[in-house]
Amino acid sequence: MSDVEAQKEAAGIAACEVVKTGMNVGLGTGSTVKYTVIELGRRIAEEGLEIIGVPTSIATEKLALEVGIPLADLGDLEGLDVVIDGTDEFDGDFQLIKGGGGALLREKIVAQASASMIVVADGRKKVNTLGEFPLPIEITPFSWVETKRQLSILFATEGFIGDITLRRKKELGTVSCDGVEFPANEKGGVFVTDNGNVILDCHFGASIVDPIGLETAILSKAGVAQVGLFNNMCDAVYLADPAGVQILRKN
Ligand code: A5P
Repeated sequence: MSDVEAQKEAAGIAACEVVKTGMNVGLGTGSTVKYTVIELGRRIAEEGLEIIGVPTSIATEKLALEVGIPLADLGDLEGLDVVIDGTDEFDGDFQLIKGGGGALLREKIVAQASASMIVVADGRKKVNTLGEFPLPIEITPFSWVETKRQLSILFATEGFIGDITLRRKKELGTVSCDGVEFPANEKGGVFVTDNGNVILDCHFGASIVDPIGLETAILSKAGVAQVGLFNNMCDAVYLADPAGVQILRKN
């Protein structure tokens, strides 16, 4: 499986073995876990699997409905048995960077409500130290420049060096978000999350040696809705590489 797309598909499908009839299942977001969602839909249609899903984004909600997964609001359930989700990076302690797709806030809410978290990933996602993938921070549009300034001061204090960029999508055009007008630039219009927030991507390089401390510090800033550090949440990774899918379990 040298092809990355084939690895994503293999990992996404293999992780479905943890899902049994009667479970409440969190459905993650991204190009790997989409194969999980499609496979669960197939098992419902062809094998009589009975589950209730909770999607972590509008995109996943749409896909889950298309493939026939019954959905519920988190608040109407007594917790989740498992969430299956993708990741942008994971380290040797199973700490994650997520949010490359912009769904980090809902993903973390769903993960916190779940008894277990299974991650699906292709071979590129395993790292020694987190941070080569830009760390996403979802912030409120209100006074976002001030929030960015506060975070810059924090990062300078903590010794992190690197650009903090407002995430943009490729399309041009302005976006009005919570009364804030975001103009397009040569990189496009601003990216707005499912929650009406915006995202800062922090380009630190592989330097996050204390992800728990960094998560706590970032969350102390008032304008921060969530940060894409998922610490002590992941129980196992279904990791696909050219040799096949291996299951890495946290001890
Ligand atoms: C969505 O916001 C992200 O957290 C994704 O789960 C993560 O970016 C992994 O996505 P891919 O499977 O598409 O790489």
